[in-house]
Amino acid sequence: ENKINQFPEGFLWGGAVAANQCEGAWNVGGKGVSTADVATGGAVDKHREYTDGVIEGKYYPSHEAIDFYNHYKGDVALLAEMGFKCFRTSIAWTRIFPNGDEAEPNEEGLKFYDNLFDECLKYGIEPVVTISHYEMPYGLVEKYGAWRSRKLVDFYVNYCEALFTRYKDKVKYWMTFNEINAVALFPFIPAGIKLKEGENKEQVSYQAAHHQLVASAKAVKLGHEINPNSKIGCMILYPLAYPETCNPKDVQAVNEMMNTHYFFSDVHVRGYYPNYQKRYFERNNINIEMEAGDEEILKAGKVDYIGFSYYMSLVISSKPTDKNSTAGNMLGGIKNPYLEASDWGWQIDPEGLRTSLNNLYDRYQVPLFCVENGLGAIDKVEEDGSINDDYRIDYLRKHIVEMKKAVTIDGVELMGYTPWGCIDLISASTGEMKKRYGFIYVDKDNDGNGTLERSRKKSFNWYKNVIATNGEEL
Ligand code: BG6
Repeated sequence: ENKINQFPEGFLWGGAVAANQCEGAWNVGGKGVSTADVATGGAVDKHREYTDGVIEGKYYPSHEAIDFYNHYKGDVALLAEMGFKCFRTSIAWTRIFPNGDEAEPNEEGLKFYDNLFDECLKYGIEPVVTISHYEMPYGLVEKYGAWRSRKLVDFYVNYCEALFTRYKDKVKYWMTFNEINAVALFPFIPAGIKLKEGENKEQVSYQAAHHQLVASAKAVKLGHEINPNSKIGCMILYPLAYPETCNPKDVQAVNEMMNTHYFFSDVHVRGYYPNYQKRYFERNNINIEMEAGDEEILKAGKVDYIGFSYYMSLVISSKPTDKNSTAGNMLGGIKNPYLEASDWGWQIDPEGLRTSLNNLYDRYQVPLFCVENGLGAIDKVEEDGSINDDYRIDYLRKHIVEMKKAVTIDGVELMGYTPWGCIDLISASTGEMKKRYGFIYVDKDNDGNGTLERSRKKSFNWYKNVIATNGEEL
């Protein structure tokens, strides 16, 4: 029975990873090269390089990652030991369609995810699957210019059809594109696009975004036809922003910034382009090519829920500011004097999670799913092998406290919580191993050395108890 001062019965406690950041086995089982496989290692002050294909002698962290491909049984057993109700992972598109444009899926790839999902279900862990998480077949980049091309819609929908059909009885929760709104910020990772000299970044990325939005809507419709009980969501990066001052101009600057992100969730949830975005395109001479029927497609493919990531908040000013003033906060903005930041400059703001949940729920009135949240930090292994990650426990505890307020005090409909990188994995922004998020430590360093051995951090038992008490004991 649901009590109003508790997380609801059946709340999906779990954790999240992405295929390209943990699986490794980049060229095994018929897998093709993905965009993640051409990303080199970097650091907080050193951008990852996206090479033209895989180049001998370069270090590509995804190629082995934490070798989840060969360790998944032991890893899922550890997640089960923590009492996970769900496990969010993604499918590597290139395991299913190695180049992206094949007519038939690769059986060996499909089989791998059958095994993985079976392993989860064996422990009562519900798989939550992102269809495309920051990667795509590199073949589609080379041959078609990736999401620049309308052709990608069909390739993506074919891929979805293969997944929805095959995993119909195993997977109920899906998300179409990870952090789809990132395409307007950095187009290579979410959409495989490298800009050419003189190209208008907005024109290119919003056209790609249109293709992805159409593809997503088609996928939602198809997924519902194949399994009417499936729940298919979008996934957005939620960039909570505060005005620097009470100057109305700062508030307006925040609104304008937020609209560049809300555009994506608006289309997903409401099924049409919002007026502010159409006007923005007009004012800026951005011309989105649409096909006849696109409006109907968007309307017919509204999502069931919003999955979102939340790590930090930012501060926006109407005055021109030095973009680097919060070095490492990948979303820009200026420093918030009330907040502390992680070693990578991400400003830690638990109360902002409550605000974000309310903002999203008020705006859309659909269920929300917090599918990423967590602290990237350097962990130290003590002499006796223990890892005392109290800072991580502190971060997660404070966020869960605020999430609980949103649910119990504000009445937000929240499906679940899957902290990011529940097992250490490769960082997406920097390619590092030392930026760790996990409850489970993996012995591997930035240069690729290590035994890959897994061990439980202090947060492991802490989170196990959080789940066992449904968030009562924090
Ligand atoms: C999200 C991505 O942006 O943030 C993940 O969906 C990513 O793929 C996560 O790993 C944390 O970012 P980072 O750069 O610390 O790995």
